[in-house]
Amino acid sequence: MSFPFISAEEAASHINNGDTVATSGFTASGTPKIVPVALAERARKFHENGEPFKVNLFTGASTNDYVDGALTRANAIGKRAPYQANPDTRVGVNNCEMEYYDPHLSHLSQDMRYGFLGDVDVAIIEVTEMNPSGEVILGAGIGMTPTIAKAAKKVIIEYSSYYRTSFRGFHDNYIPLDPPHRREIPIYKPSDRIGSTVLKIDPKKIIGVVPSNESESISSFTSLSETTRAIGANVAEFLASEMRKGHIPHEFLPIQSGVGNIANAALYGLADNPAIPRFEMYTEVVQDAVMELMEKGKCSFASTCALAFSDETMLRFMDNISFFRDKLLMRPGEISNHPEVVRRLGLIAMNTALECDIYGNVNSTHVNGTKIMNGIGGSGDFCRNAYLSIFLCPSIQKNGKISTIVPMVPHVDHNEHSVKVIVTDQGVADLRNTDPSQRAKIIIENCVHPDYKQLMWDYLKVARKGHTPHNLHAAFAMHNTFEEAGDMRLTDFARYA
Ligand code: COA
Repeated sequence: MSFPFISAEEAASHINNGDTVATSGFTASGTPKIVPVALAERARKFHENGEPFKVNLFTGASTNDYVDGALTRANAIGKRAPYQANPDTRVGVNNCEMEYYDPHLSHLSQDMRYGFLGDVDVAIIEVTEMNPSGEVILGAGIGMTPTIAKAAKKVIIEYSSYYRTSFRGFHDNYIPLDPPHRREIPIYKPSDRIGSTVLKIDPKKIIGVVPSNESESISSFTSLSETTRAIGANVAEFLASEMRKGHIPHEFLPIQSGVGNIANAALYGLADNPAIPRFEMYTEVVQDAVMELMEKGKCSFASTCALAFSDETMLRFMDNISFFRDKLLMRPGEISNHPEVVRRLGLIAMNTALECDIYGNVNSTHVNGTKIMNGIGGSGDFCRNAYLSIFLCPSIQKNGKISTIVPMVPHVDHNEHSVKVIVTDQGVADLRNTDPSQRAKIIIENCVHPDYKQLMWDYLKVARKGHTPHNLHAAFAMHNTFEEAGDMRLTDFARYA
């Protein structure tokens, strides 16, 4: 069977108001780039004629501007799930212009198969190679693609010719059986392959193939600042001391590293510390730092869901692809983040917090408790099940007007029962085997910025005694002061005495 080449507009014409659309990819990598823009244009035309047009959009994680950006600006998203990181979508969600459902990334594929998310009408899947029987080689990210290919009633293929080298061999497509037939996920080390390099899509469902030549359009990371460098050095020194104590085996443990500038910086911190041995990664994204670590011989292997390289780094990767062939494997998000595997491999999980409280609860998602930043992503999958769950953040934000350590977080993504270590540019708080009052002391002494230390002690003075001392009138005073006066340092806890 050969599939017709069609235009993006024709492909988009198969998507109707109220449809549920699912896309391939994870972060911008492997995400479609042409059809979603045409779909946004289609929505705009409906709106100009006074007719409604919105779709529900399910993706592997965040996408690119071609998907979230274009569809948000066209007011074409009814419901969005899961993680997003697009500035326009963030505004749309916070203005309640769309519904936003933010589950753990490892859950979404199985929830789709269980039927919890309703029918999937159309899947848009980026591929880099395909044959007439519907076997495809995916691109730089997998996300939920094996499940959406199976669940969708219709499939649109975006055939990317951007990659000048074949990605064949980098993917490990696998769908676990669903309960009550589920078996163990047979990954015993990061490099274990359990699935197939190709993904088989039912040819009868394929509407057509849209040619594309767009890059992932991921920009380079900001260079390391004094703060991010300090966070990286602190986390590396902490892990080195854990090895000396025998808490981490001498062969080390696989690293999981989150998204964003700080996670990228933490990896450079590990690279710079000679006491940290060569390591493997079992993670959901590899960013630019990982490629450099591989080139330097510090990282020997990475299992991931996506190669989220900046465009510049992706070109370098393609030029050198043979070097990376035995060092990288891409898996679906439900496998890269699978709690069973995370626990079995004993990951050292390093994710970023917006803020942490003095008892070890972490907010990764909501600014001032109400406004979504991005979403929980895979941080919960890893945090709850890792050997060591570490959260990183700068001690202050917005030129010191915000302390990232607060008395009580106004939104909890990861709680004190799972979070084991907090690292800021100031130092490291090791929360293992501690009582809440000990935790407060350790966090204030080691992680809080000097501008805020006295304020934290002042809070504890007005806190009511108990297993977890708090003053519920004052617990959010720093957040309220920031909203009202623009600077948390102006908080006066004495008035709550
Ligand atoms: N209050 C208000 N704003 C805050 C804040 C706080 N407590 N903490 C951070 N911010 C702002 C920063 O000022 C910055 O704003 P800007 O874009 O206007 O400069 C923005 O949030 C991003 O912070 P930054 O310090 O640059 O960190 P980052 O790029 O590493 O992103 C998270 C941090 C928390 C937003 C990001 O890691 C995330 O979305 N995490 C949740 C999902 C996750 O962990 N996934 C990984 C699993 S593998």
